[in-house]
Amino acid sequence: MIGEVKLRAAGVVYVLALALLSPAFAAPPVAPATPAASVASVASAAGNTGPSLQVLHWWTSAGERKAVGVLINKLAEQNIQWRDFAIPGGAGIGAGKVLKSMVLAGHAPEVTQLNGVIFGEWADLGLLLELDNVAVQGNWQKLLFPTAWSLLNNHGHVVAAPLGIHRINNLYYNIAIFNRLGLRAPRTWDEFEQVAVKLKQAGITPLAQSSESWQVATLFETLVLAESGPAYYRELFVDLSPRAFADARLLHALKRLRSLKQVMQLPVKERPWTEVAHQLADGEAGMFVMGDWAKGDFNAWGLNADQQFGCAAVPGTADYHLYSIDTLAMFADDYSHQPAQEVLAQIAMSPAVQSDYNKFKGAIPVWRAPDTSKMDSCSLNSWRTFGKGAAFQAPSLVHRMATDETTKDAIVAELRRFFVDDQMPEAEVQRKLAAIARALSRTGKVE
Ligand code: BGC
Repeated sequence: MIGEVKLRAAGVVYVLALALLSPAFAAPPVAPATPAASVASVASAAGNTGPSLQVLHWWTSAGERKAVGVLINKLAEQNIQWRDFAIPGGAGIGAGKVLKSMVLAGHAPEVTQLNGVIFGEWADLGLLLELDNVAVQGNWQKLLFPTAWSLLNNHGHVVAAPLGIHRINNLYYNIAIFNRLGLRAPRTWDEFEQVAVKLKQAGITPLAQSSESWQVATLFETLVLAESGPAYYRELFVDLSPRAFADARLLHALKRLRSLKQVMQLPVKERPWTEVAHQLADGEAGMFVMGDWAKGDFNAWGLNADQQFGCAAVPGTADYHLYSIDTLAMFADDYSHQPAQEVLAQIAMSPAVQSDYNKFKGAIPVWRAPDTSKMDSCSLNSWRTFGKGAAFQAPSLVHRMATDETTKDAIVAELRRFFVDDQMPEAEVQRKLAAIARALSRTGKVE
């Protein structure tokens, strides 16, 4: 396994070295030092045909498409065409690979959904358009939640435009079923077990779940948070402290993951998150743990919070916010798209988009003080919890907020192996995860 991990690490270095040597990666020309393009100037320069931007993303579900529609329309109002390049696959597993190969081939899209710490990698190679002018003119530093602001910054430059903040540690439940059986959303694991027994007795799968690796790991990261809180969570997934992987709290979270299989439909099938969400919506399952993009889909299917579905926090995590922040990064190339790219960045941060896009997406605005009038109880709760500050926030490993892509992929693959193999001892996966941390941590520090 270690050999495998080292090979992967070597692979990344090789890819980056290739990238630096390839003519496609020659440093892009210096950006013209002009103020950020104004919406009006791009629109008038555009004439009838207008500029266009190719946008790579993985928003293909019903709710996601509605949210993207808000961006497409706002851009069209400025006579800029959004050339859609959607790669299906939850959590961007496919999109990430397509993006990497496009960039390596010298055909980067003009805009991409590019979440998390991976910015740094692309920005360090000089590939991303710096949006400092737009950010200064739009007062982003003052308007944004500090966590969102620091995420966008790479060595003092703003390298992406923020869209919204997702909460991952949600426990959705089917209200009709809960009412019929006289159940209440569980706040503790004891209550969760009692609810699960009642659901099983009624012939309903207590917890909807897929065995797709990122979905297993999404459930698991909520269990780590439940077991420990954000400080230990960061030791594991941000600091990659090998010692933290030997901790009893990780052992407990692994045991919880394994025991939760008893309340899932066995064998746990590998299905897209939208299908699993349907199991909850259709009453086949009583509960579902997922990021709140699932709420965007429930809404798109005509279901509303506190009516057809309820949203509680995963037991033990009500005080915390396991987050993923969606952003759009712009590839600089020869700077010919810079005016249109800057307009899209301005649009992303505008109050109307922050409110309407995030309503469809199931997320909350990145603004500290947004318009809360259109928020449902789930979003209000998410916004209040995130607003408590960094001590209550945990960056999602699976959704690229905690560490680099290679480390994330290695940990996620190991967790899935553990999930599907009931014979694998917890201590073995702890040792393997610690080995990954040792091999791939950014500091290379061995404890
Ligand atoms: C993204 C969301 C997306 C979800 C499901 C997450 O990684 O942050 O925007 O809706 O994956 O694909």
